[in-house]
Amino acid sequence: MPNSIQMAPSILSSDYLNLQSQIELLANCGEPPEWFHIDVMDGHFVPNLTIGPPFVRALKRITEVPLDVHVMIENPSDQLHWYLDAGADTLTVHIESLRPGAQGGRGFSATLQDISEAEIELGLTLLERIRSSGALAGLSINPETPVSLLKPFYQQLDLVLLMSVHPGFGGQSIIGNSYDRLREIRSEIDALGSPILLEIDGGIDVDTAPLAVAAGAEMLVAGNAIYGQADPVAAMQAIRAAAIKIIK
Ligand code: DX5
Ligand code: ZN
Repeated sequence: MPNSIQMAPSILSSDYLNLQSQIELLANCGEPPEWFHIDVMDGHFVPNLTIGPPFVRALKRITEVPLDVHVMIENPSDQLHWYLDAGADTLTVHIESLRPGAQGGRGFSATLQDISEAEIELGLTLLERIRSSGALAGLSINPETPVSLLKPFYQQLDLVLLMSVHPGFGGQSIIGNSYDRLREIRSEIDALGSPILLEIDGGIDVDTAPLAVAAGAEMLVAGNAIYGQADPVAAMQAIRAAAIKIIK
């Protein structure tokens, strides 16, 4: 069980044309989020296209809340420095993107069933590059990739981001086996005695957040359940309150 809850509202569900006021709405409320979650999608690794480095840089100028940048892109090693220079406070790459050309089919996400020595080497190098820039280094894992593939990376990780939906779009329902996958990762982290943050992304709302926390998640991404609501501040506080009950 984690001992704190961190909220990471995903701007994917916000009104992009009024992003500054959407950010300030949450950042200036009584209990602001610990992070803003920023989804970078390239239209190849996932079937959607969002924002790039200039946008991250612009966000960095308007808020002191740290930016949790989740890159869903092919060949991340070519572009990591863009996001680090733009001010990412955490930078999370997909384990599946360590294999060039790994893509899911329509509606599905890239999956690995094994990982080679060269891919492990590449992943460790990327994580080291992120850490040496001063950002927290994260690895994200898609719903069908076995969580055991994360093992070689734990020593170099600050954060694991479990995708609990197929990445690409907000507003999907959580995939049911995500709770078991969280438990599996949580027991690895606890066995190592490591302070790695365990983050869950996809389908988190006031009902699923407590279940995710009970399964070991401490960093809760929520897009539709916050920015998709009429009162995003109240929605965020309701999710936090429901989640905190589990650890108290
Ligand atoms: C999906 C993104 C998520 C998305 C979650 O690929 O990684 O961060 O914003 O959206 P909800 O919370 O609506 O499922
Ligand atoms: Zn995300």
